Amino acid sequence: MPMHRIDALHEPLTPVLTAILATLPPLAGPLLDVGCGAGAKIPLLRAKMNHTAPLIGLDCDLPALQEAVMADRLLAVAGDAHALPLRTASCGAAVCSAVLGLLRDQRTALRELRRVVRPGGWILIVTATTAWTPWSAQMRSWVTRLCERVEMPGSLLFATPEPAADLAALLRESGWSEVRTGAFAIEAGSDAPPVLPLLTREVVERHLTPVEVQEYDTVVADAGIELLPLILAATGT
Ligand SMILES: C[S@@+](CC[C@H](N)C(=O)[O-])C[C@H]1O[C@@H](n2cnc3c(N)ncnc32)[C@H](O)[C@@H]1O
Repeated sequence: MPMHRIDALHEPLTPVLTAILATLPPLAGPLLDVGCGAGAKIPLLRAKMNHTAPLIGLDCDLPALQEAVMADRLLAVAGDAHALPLRTASCGAAVCSAVLGLLRDQRTALRELRRVVRPGGWILIVTATTAWTPWSAQMRSWVTRLCERVEMPGSLLFATPEPAADLAALLRESGWSEVRTGAFAIEAGSDAPPVLPLLTREVVERHLTPVEVQEYDTVVADAGIELLPLILAATGT
């Protein structure tokens, strides 16, 4: 996904993430940004690290990783979150932002993260929550069609409906403790339909006929859905 879309979607989360990062213990080792993509979260993480610890960006998407390297000199690692090419206890902490819902086996990935984060280190996870699930069949069908036309995988929108309790339990089973959770509403910008900040007005109008735009607007207006990203922080003992 292009970085500007992630930036726009996640922008309202910045103060929340900053506040949560401030409550987490200081780093005793490199910070791993797993699934860093093009590096949208790197400035935020650099601020937390106060430039004292190295930042490792890991992703399976090489062009995105290249973009992250060009934007900020980080230690880039090409790899899969399910089998991290990193030594046991080699990282001080890990951040997993908008990645967990895309993984085929979250348990394996969380255990891998537990393995590479040293005892006493922490993990910060940002993922979408059940707010996605009450979408009506009509709404889903519209979004799927639109995603096909703009060549954006619909799975990005529908991938992560796990409730907070299940995910917290999964974290504990994967060796993490002191799990804290919180959900936060994202408000879309004024030029975007309220429920779909990933799809801007301009994209909608470019890819749908005027009649379709009218139908789309009606469905979106009736949907009454908010994006509720879920944030979990946990410590490794
Ligand atoms: C929605 S982007 C999030 C990027 C960044 N973390 C952020 O918050 O802006 C999801 C990223 O996860 C990466 N990803 C998905 N599956 C992965 C896997 N199995 N291993 C490593 N990275 C993965 C994708 O390539 C993509 O860059």
